[in-house]
Amino acid sequence: SLVYLNGDYMPPEQAKISPMDRGFLFGDGIYEVVPAYHGKMLGFDAHIQRMQSGLAAIDIELDYTAQQWRQICDTLIAKNPGPNQGIYLHVSRGADSKRNHAYPQGITPTVFAFCFELPGEPVCDPELATSYHVSLEQDKRWQRCNIKSTALLGNVMHYQSGAAAGNKETILFNSDEQITEASSSNVFIVKDGVISTPPLDHQILPGITRWLILTILAEHSDFAVQQRVISKAELLNADEVWITSATKEVGPVVKVADQVIGSGQPGPVWQQVQSLFSQHKF
Ligand code: PDD
Repeated sequence: SLVYLNGDYMPPEQAKISPMDRGFLFGDGIYEVVPAYHGKMLGFDAHIQRMQSGLAAIDIELDYTAQQWRQICDTLIAKNPGPNQGIYLHVSRGADSKRNHAYPQGITPTVFAFCFELPGEPVCDPELATSYHVSLEQDKRWQRCNIKSTALLGNVMHYQSGAAAGNKETILFNSDEQITEASSSNVFIVKDGVISTPPLDHQILPGITRWLILTILAEHSDFAVQQRVISKAELLNADEVWITSATKEVGPVVKVADQVIGSGQPGPVWQQVQSLFSQHKF
């Protein structure tokens, strides 16, 4: 397998960066994860746009065009095995000679990218789908969660405490007991046929999968969809709960904090939406 670092492709063990890199010292960088199915990327333009606005938000100047990013991704997809791949893109502010909190002037950003294999073909059958048991915790991250920062310690700690409880994700709520998102996913609920997801603000990442789902749902007038505040109580009383991300697609949640959601199986609305999502990919 090959990775990309600062203009070159190489085996992963040859990719070296300085320990003075601000990505390493401060988590000072922006990242993306783009899914590709049978060599075709999903939501590529939106992923690159989100990365470019993240870089602008933290004043990292990088002159890669969307076309250059596409070429890097296509090359990695071709040079790495597996029908379905996730492409990880990472830009840090770069290495400096000193450790200074202030953004240094005149350093070159570090650009790193690699592929990893996504789990097999997407499944729309509730019997075969990967369903999720998740934890539920107060969101203890920072107030700029709309920036896809490589500084993920808060997310990692939330995920890990879920894992310690035997769960595969942790859904988060703010101090007003409103659902924000999960440690590495966005959240949707279904109640009485209405699909809801928290509105975009500084508390959540504007997920590309979330956006794709909302776009697909808007094309089908038979769905009632709301972007609105969802309380912790509403989450626990929902008929269905989903978590969404580039690597999970639409992930059905069947247990939240040991409480069974709906029938305890991936629900009928999940099945419809996951199936529309799968068709949309090709
Ligand atoms: N995570 N919220 C958070 C905090 C995330 O880290 C992610 C994605 C999402 C979903 O965004 P998208 O649909 O664009 O993947 C929401 C990636 C996959 C990761 O960190 O691996």
